[in-house]
Amino acid sequence: MHDAGPSIELVLDGQPIRVSARGSVAGALLEAGVAWLRSSPRTHGPRGAFCFMGVCQECAILIDGRLQQACLVTPRAGMTIERGGAP
Ligand code: FES
Repeated sequence: MHDAGPSIELVLDGQPIRVSARGSVAGALLEAGVAWLRSSPRTHGPRGAFCFMGVCQECAILIDGRLQQACLVTPRAGMTIERGGAP
């Protein structure tokens, strides 16, 4: 059985969400069931992390008010994440 380890609380689009404290923000959100991180500027369809290694830019979202790659940021308790509206 998978051990998610310690968890922390983030604020996602103004709502608290409990995620794993390990790995990246993108990985922790995906593990918590959050797959879409932003909307496509062209089709407005949902987009989510793809490469998980800082190459594709698909995970670029506002973290603590700054546009950052969620796959390269370590989750921290109280961190605010804004996805910019549902697709
Ligand atoms: S998932 Fe590709 S840059 Fe983050």
